[in-house]
Order: sequence, then C-alpha cells, then structure tokens
Amino acid sequence: MGRAPDRLTVPAPPLRAQTKNVALIAGDGVGPEVMQVGVQVLEALAEHGRYPIRWTPFDLGAERYLRDGVTFPGEIAAQIREEFDAILLGALGDPRVPDLSYAREILFGIRFGFDLYCNVRPISCLSDSLMPLRHHSAADCDFVVFRENTEGIYVGVGGQFKRGTADEIAINEDINTRRGVERIIRAAFDYARTQGRTTVHMVDKHNAMYHAHDLWRRCFHEVAEEFSDITTEHLFVDAFCAELIQNPARFDVVVTCNLFGDIITDLGAALQGGMGMAASANIHPGRLSMFEPVHGSAPTLAGTDTANPFAMVLTVGMMMTDLGWPEAEARLTTLIKRAIEQKACTRDVGGTLGTRETGEALCGSLARAYAESPRPS
Ligand code: IPM
Ligand code: MN
Repeated sequence: MGRAPDRLTVPAPPLRAQTKNVALIAGDGVGPEVMQVGVQVLEALAEHGRYPIRWTPFDLGAERYLRDGVTFPGEIAAQIREEFDAILLGALGDPRVPDLSYAREILFGIRFGFDLYCNVRPISCLSDSLMPLRHHSAADCDFVVFRENTEGIYVGVGGQFKRGTADEIAINEDINTRRGVERIIRAAFDYARTQGRTTVHMVDKHNAMYHAHDLWRRCFHEVAEEFSDITTEHLFVDAFCAELIQNPARFDVVVTCNLFGDIITDLGAALQGGMGMAASANIHPGRLSMFEPVHGSAPTLAGTDTANPFAMVLTVGMMMTDLGWPEAEARLTTLIKRAIEQKACTRDVGGTLGTRETGEALCGSLARAYAESPRPS
C-alpha cells in the first residue's frame, strides 16, 4: 500500500498556457473563514504566473437565500458550466434556515446537476500526533474512499403520506442504476491502477439490501475482471467500521454507495485528526469538478477564528491535481505535515493559532518553498 513520498523538492511546474478558472462559493458558517485561507493559498500558487489560475466569487448561500430567495439558479449553473474549470466550495448550512432546503439545492444542484459521480475522499493521517488509535501510527491510515455521488438514498425520491397523523408513512427510495453503480466502481479501479494502489474493497450491505447491493456485487465482480492486477476484497459496512478501527492499514481504495460513503468518511475523518483535516473532490472525470472540505459550516465555530483551515488547503490541493498540477498538491500536503509537527496550526490539531494566523503561516512557508526551488525558466 504505497504512501506517496514527501515531495517538497519536486521540480517546479512548467508554465501553462491556459488559465484555469475557478468559481468560489464561500457559503455559510466557517465557510468564508476557511475560504479566505483557500484564496490566500491560490494567490501564493498563482504568484509570478507560476500557476495560471483565476478565481471568481459567487454570492450563494444562506445570506443570499434569506435576502432574495436565490439558491442555485439555472443561469449561474450554465455560466459555471461554460466558463469555469472547477468550483471551490466552503460550506453550506445555517441555523436560520432549519430545514436546510437551500443548502441541498446548492450542494445537490452541483453534485447532481453537473453529474459529479465520484466523491473522492482521501483518508490519510498526516501525523502520528493526530492518530487516535492506540498501537497505530499515521502510516497505518492512508486510503481513498470512492463514494457514489449521484444516486442512492440521496436522490430524494419518496414522500410523506398522512403527515402528522398516527398513520403517517415516510418513504425515501434508494436508487441504484446499472450505469451509475458500474461507473463509480470502474472509477475506483482506474484510480487504483493509475495511482499504484493494490487493493480495492467494496463496502456494501447485500446481506440486508439484497436487491440493490446484489447489483453492486455483480458490477464489482464484472469490473474486477478487467483489472486482474488489482486485488479485490469485500466487506459489509458494519464489519468495515469495526475493521477500520482495528486495522486501518488494510485499506487502500474503498468503493461504496452514497449513504455509506457519507458515514464511513466521517469515521475516517476521526482517524485523520478530525473534520478539520478531511478534504474531498466531487468529480466527473474529464469535466468540471467541485472541491469542498468535508467539515460543513460548523455554526458554533463561525466567527471565532478557530476553524481549522487545513481541510480547505488539502481540498485546494486536490483541485490543483485535477487541474493538472499534482506537484502543487504534494507541496501543500508536505507543508501541512510540517505545520502540524511545528504546531503552527489550530487547537484541534495540537496548535495554538487561529484560522487566519494558521493560513498566514502556511502561505509564508509556501512562499519560502517556492523561493528555494523556483520554477525553471
Ligand atoms: C457531506 C455532507 C452532506 C452529505 C450533507 C450536508 C447533505 O454530510 O458532504 O458529507 O451527506 O453528503
Ligand atoms: Mn457527511
């Protein structure tokens, strides 16, 4: 199970001709605070034309919804589709809108609307000091979850009948299509092969959900036949959760449905040092993608300058790889590891700094790293 080596000294990137356009949606709660750090990192990356990136903020989220009722209008979706290469999202969710319908309209509007079927969530513990399990080190936790992102229980098919009465019925259908299941499984195998990962685990519940997850099982075995170089394993989701805590080193690439992916990646985040360290990418390979930290809007932390911005910085890293610049992600990851070692980070990961100071310290080290290994002309 190959861990990516630290690559602070990788050759600096060549200058790209084509500018990449990033749409920013800071959103709610701690979203704008971590987005500010994300933008500082983009500024440092873009400096001296090192990486030709341009970014444009979009005013979407709770404030906008409460002001004029706008959530995620078709014209904005069309503009983003035509003019942008990526979306960077802060967080959505505000207690002033308890049913969170506007947040779902934006988040699912992006995930479903742009058909971003791969929710890629790396579960990588970057420092021994963050590993909560006894007898385990950070090196034992390094795998990637491929969460199906456009189907399952998330599609909202269903309804309520006789609401509020003793005879009430509530139904949420779990939608699994052959096409949808096969493509996420194939994406997981493709990733394993191209990244030199050796094993793909499928996590499902076909002992109970035997219609839907029988389809998953059949697709998994069929796709696996095309990847004879990859070892395959299967675990029921309940057993997976136990195994994750007892033997996280067993996992390399994990593919699972939308709901299980949501749950197991929060468990995974706990092994990474908490929600402040968990990054994610919502991808349709070859098309515009969306990048978001997993932590959400954390309303109780909003405005306190305590939110950990590293999930956002790691998320910017994933975006850089998607835009064609993996060396930038490697550099950011290395600098975050160092920052944690040196305690130049927020309290949740062992430091004493606020969100803003953490971002400034990190951007300072980024600028110094580039000064030491400048881009070759
Ligand atoms: C996540 C979040 C979302 C999800 C919520 C906000 C709908 O928990 O991105 O993991 O369940 O997908
Ligand atoms: Mn979640």
